[in-house]
Order: sequence, then C-alpha cells, then structure tokens
Amino acid sequence: MKRVLVTGSTQGIGKAIACEFVKNGYEVIVHCSKDIKKAEYVCKEIGAKSAVTCDLADINEINTLVEKTGNVDILILNASVQFKEKWNEISEESMDKQYTVNVKNTLKLIQTYLPFMVEKKMGRIVTIGSVNQYRQHPELIFYSATKCAVMSIIKNVAKQVAQYNVTLNNIAPGAIATPRNESVYNDEEKRKEVESVIPMGRFGQPSDCVGAVMLLCSEQGSYITGSDIVIDGGMRL
Ligand SMILES: NC(=O)c1ccc[n+]([C@@H]2O[C@H](COP(=O)([O-])OP(=O)(O)OC[C@H]3O[C@@H](n4cnc5c(N)ncnc54)[C@H](OP(=O)(O)O)[C@@H]3O)[C@@H](O)[C@H]2O)c1
Repeated sequence: MKRVLVTGSTQGIGKAIACEFVKNGYEVIVHCSKDIKKAEYVCKEIGAKSAVTCDLADINEINTLVEKTGNVDILILNASVQFKEKWNEISEESMDKQYTVNVKNTLKLIQTYLPFMVEKKMGRIVTIGSVNQYRQHPELIFYSATKCAVMSIIKNVAKQVAQYNVTLNNIAPGAIATPRNESVYNDEEKRKEVESVIPMGRFGQPSDCVGAVMLLCSEQGSYITGSDIVIDGGMRL
C-alpha cells in the first residue's frame, strides 16, 4: 500500500486531499503544527493511518519528522503561512516566517523525503502554490514571492530526478473557501468583491483542488513533471 504524508491536513485543502487519498486506499499520515489531538481527531474522522505534529517553522522539528513518519511514496507539501501587509509595511518578522515555512523548509522536506523515492525509482511530490504566482495582490507581495520560489525549486529538482521515475509538480489554487479565508467568505460584501474578479463567479471548494493532485500522483499522471496546474475558476485570466 502506498504511503502518503500531507502537510497541514487538519483542515482546508490539505484535509480534502488527505481524505481523497484515504478513499482511494492509500495509507495516509495527517499532519499539523502543534496540537496532536487535532491531528488525531482528523485522522480518526477521515480514517487515516496516523497523525503527527511538526512545526514547519522549526528546523529541529523538521529534522526529526521523518523518524516519526517513516519514508513515504507520496509527499504533498500543502502547509504554508500567509501574512497580509501592504508593500511598505511588510515586517522582517513576517518575511522571515513566510520564507522559512514556505520556501526553506519546503526544500528541506524535499531533501529529506526525496532520496528514498529516487532509490525506489518511484515517487510523487506535489506542492500547493497559489494563483498569486500569476496574479498580483496588493497585500500578498512576499507570500506570492514564496510561492514563485517554490515553483522554481519544483521545476529545477523535477528535471534532475525525472530519470528515476519521480515527479514533482505544483498546483496553484485560486480563492478557496477554507478556514484561512473564513473572515472574507462569511462577510457577504467582502465575498462578493472577491467573486467579482473570478470569471466563474464563485469561491472554489477544497474538493476542487483534489482531482489535479490525484491525477499527478496516479499512473496516468506519470509523464507529468515540473508542471503547474492552476485551479482558480479563471481568476488569473
Ligand atoms: N485557501 C485559499 O484560498 C488558498 C489559495 C491559494 C493557495 N492556497 C494554499 O493552499 C494551501 C492550504 O491552504 P488552506 O487555505 O487550506 O490552509 P489553512 O486552512 O490555513 O490550513 C493550513 C494547514 O497548515 C498547517 N500549518 C500552518 N502553519 C504551519 C506550521 N508552521 N507548521 C505546520 N503546519 C502548519 C495548519 O495546521 P495548524 O492548525 O496546526 O497550524 C493547517 O493544517 C496553502 O499552501 C495555501 O498557501 C490556499
């Protein structure tokens, strides 16, 4: 049975992805930052195999994560942090945190889990990027830069390990109704403002992001590498 680790899978997009892997018979590890009870609750709720915590801002915790999870066949790097600030108000602290979690430790996790996949000559890594790789948002300047940086890492590493039947890809969701966006989604005026720039006229649901990930991790998706699939109802257009 194939083993999958989905980071940040206690809610939102990560949880929807974890749930779909469980439904398709994979052995899934649910992950969140600190609260093991939360991870265990979701693990039980969706029928996953196990639950772990690891604060992706903390390199010491990252260094011991693989001891807790063991090696995996599929790694979904979903967790990220996001701070909304205008360009001239972005603090060093927020830059450091977004860089550390979204970029540096994403690469660190790839460095940790990829060698086993290469050795096995089979593996899949999918990062969750953002429509903000393509579309400007006045308060997500540094966050958008981190997502572009990850796409660059994915393309570079994908090229180097393609010969081992290991693929790395990214999906780029648009505005998705997750806890992260609750305050906007639940405020009718703010929600309509966002929906007015989405050609499909609605927020996406976490489930809208699942099909692309499953394709990329399937046998049918085995010739796709270094790619980005945008799932945004046309928002970037
Ligand atoms: N929602 C959107 O509209 C949207 C749009 C484009 C891209 N995305 C991307 O899609 C991904 C998922 O977004 P989402 O909206 O589903 O997220 P979310 O609702 O904010 O959930 C984030 C998940 O990541 C975990 N996480 C956050 N910081 C962490 C840390 N330092 N260490 C370990 N885990 C951490 C959270 O666990 P804890 O609760 O333990 O912190 C939680 O399980 C993110 O990469 C995001 O950038 C989302």
